[in-house]
Amino acid sequence: MTDSKSFDPLDFPDRINIGCGFDHRDGYLNVDFQDFHDPDLVADVRDLAMLPSDHYTEIVAQDVLEHLERAEVDPALVEWARLLKTGGQIFLRVPDIMGVARLIAREATVEHHRTMLHALFGTQAYNGDYHHASFTELTLRRSLHDAGFEISDLRPRDQWMIDCVATKSDTLDPGPLPLLSLEPEVLAPDQSEPSEDASPDDTPKSTTTDAIAERFESAATALSRRVPDDFKDKARGALRSGRDRFEKLRKR
Ligand SMILES: C[S@@+](CC[C@H](N)C(=O)[O-])C[C@H]1O[C@@H](n2cnc3c(N)ncnc32)[C@H](O)[C@@H]1O
Repeated sequence: MTDSKSFDPLDFPDRINIGCGFDHRDGYLNVDFQDFHDPDLVADVRDLAMLPSDHYTEIVAQDVLEHLERAEVDPALVEWARLLKTGGQIFLRVPDIMGVARLIAREATVEHHRTMLHALFGTQAYNGDYHHASFTELTLRRSLHDAGFEISDLRPRDQWMIDCVATKSDTLDPGPLPLLSLEPEVLAPDQSEPSEDASPDDTPKSTTTDAIAERFESAATALSRRVPDDFKDKARGALRSGRDRFEKLRKR
């Protein structure tokens, strides 16, 4: 781990993992502002002035943009575009507030609603672990276009997130962005209903709940190893209540 003062970008790969958290990747420059995540570079992803322009071939930014305030999202994308070579790709994962809303509407129980609110607002165990923004496909498309990216792939993930791959372009059509090209699955309201030939134990609903539960389980394990003592009580409490809720949902 190094801070920006003693940092030479050329000592590191030309791929960046922005807001790496627990997902420390080989072959990437792992960046996070929480040093307990042991990133290669401790830095705020809103201002990466210590990194060169037009240098990187790939940026991974999974579950990070929503941790910035809404007004910071577009400037952050512009800053990340600065780092990429033309043709370089960004792999983004963000929450899809419409997907969250559809999942909330599916089940009228307090436990289920709390589970989804947890997903929407973050675990809230430490600074940087709160969600301040969310996205729809439209807002994500608009922000990426305005930052100079061309979207090559955009798809729903676990019904409440969007995975998106976009390429830095220097030939973007300056005309108005076509506003809607939603993938059918993004809008399908009932895709997690069991299909006719699905077995009772293999419904997409449990798959979704398990996927969310697994995600927070692995965050809980990683967090219990890494979080400094000051944060531990808060982190344990937040994760315990999250895990309890997921356990109850899984048993239904
Ligand atoms: C939910 S975690 C995602 C971690 C990882 N990308 C993954 O997919 O598992 C969000 C991470 O972003 C980091 N983060 C949030 N705001 C940040 C900022 N302004 N600068 C640097 N890191 C930030 C947090 O410390 C946290 O590690």
